[in-house]
Amino acid sequence: MKVKKAVFPVAGLGTRFIPATKAMAKEMLPVVDKPIIQYAVEEAFAAGIEQIIFVTGRGKKALEDHFDRSVEIESNLEAKGKTELLKQIQELVPRTGTIVYTRQHQPRGLGHAIWCARDIVGDEPFAVLLADDMIKTEGKPVLSEMVEQFDRFRASIAAVMEVDKSQTDKYGILDAGPLEDKIVRVNDMIEKPAPEEAPSNLAIVGRYILTPKIWDHLGKKQKGAGGEIQLTDAMRALLKEQPIFGYKFEGTRFDCGDKAGFQMANLAYALERPELKDKLLDFIKSGCFNIIDFRSCSSQKIAILEPGRLFANQ
Ligand code: UTP
Repeated sequence: MKVKKAVFPVAGLGTRFIPATKAMAKEMLPVVDKPIIQYAVEEAFAAGIEQIIFVTGRGKKALEDHFDRSVEIESNLEAKGKTELLKQIQELVPRTGTIVYTRQHQPRGLGHAIWCARDIVGDEPFAVLLADDMIKTEGKPVLSEMVEQFDRFRASIAAVMEVDKSQTDKYGILDAGPLEDKIVRVNDMIEKPAPEEAPSNLAIVGRYILTPKIWDHLGKKQKGAGGEIQLTDAMRALLKEQPIFGYKFEGTRFDCGDKAGFQMANLAYALERPELKDKLLDFIKSGCFNIIDFRSCSSQKIAILEPGRLFANQ
């Protein structure tokens, strides 16, 4: 069966981004000029997803409004003849029923947020996208690649990347063996292990395709790391019944739920925009920054700037 539905859990509190997230969803923070959520929604549609299910919580009204019509702005743009902008905001509104909403009444963890979408997804494979994990690729978006892999394996699959060993306590970490060039087969997984307990440095990031069997395990609502109902724990239980694979994507991942990761995403995406690139580079080169280190990050060179600032150069 084709992967047609995608769940977007957006009910977290975004505490790492306080105060910006006190009254606003972190998914509505803009990277350049688009809210984070819009990048992920575009990625889902590009991968052939036909229905998007937002799992929202309190204070997420702006997110719903973003994908709704804004009659006042539309008539204003129309009156002023700003047809290009008008087209842009009209295109944001999908056909009725393409985006549906459900609620997680309390932020009880990622696993619980996904479980809140069970009746809407039903008995079919589905994607999960954590919008605050932005993944910039040269080629196809990561979810499109994963849908292709799912069609081959017909089993659950998660996007994975290597992280610094000191960072394992921020991720679901795999014990996995190589299967193909970009595919690993998962033997076990553990949520947020301390570096000395981590089976590897292979971490899951925010793209998944899951088989409906996961509902049995999410439905048990067992609490795990941090007292939250974790998706990793449900996937671990699923492993006893079905294989799970990891997809080692090519690209740069930005953790936009983190203040530094968010700034890096803004810089990387802004430097790709012809109308912004020269202005930004001129500013960076103007001498206000002291370059202390150069590192390679995917296909781009990154200069680390004092104090901890960063920019990408071609
Ligand atoms: P995060 O841990 O990155 O988000 O969860 P958070 O809890 O909002 O952020 P911090 O750690 O407090 O800063 C990953 C994703 O899961 C969603 C979040 O919205 C985010 O997209 N989530 C998390 C839920 O929808 N509900 C939850 O109970 C927890």
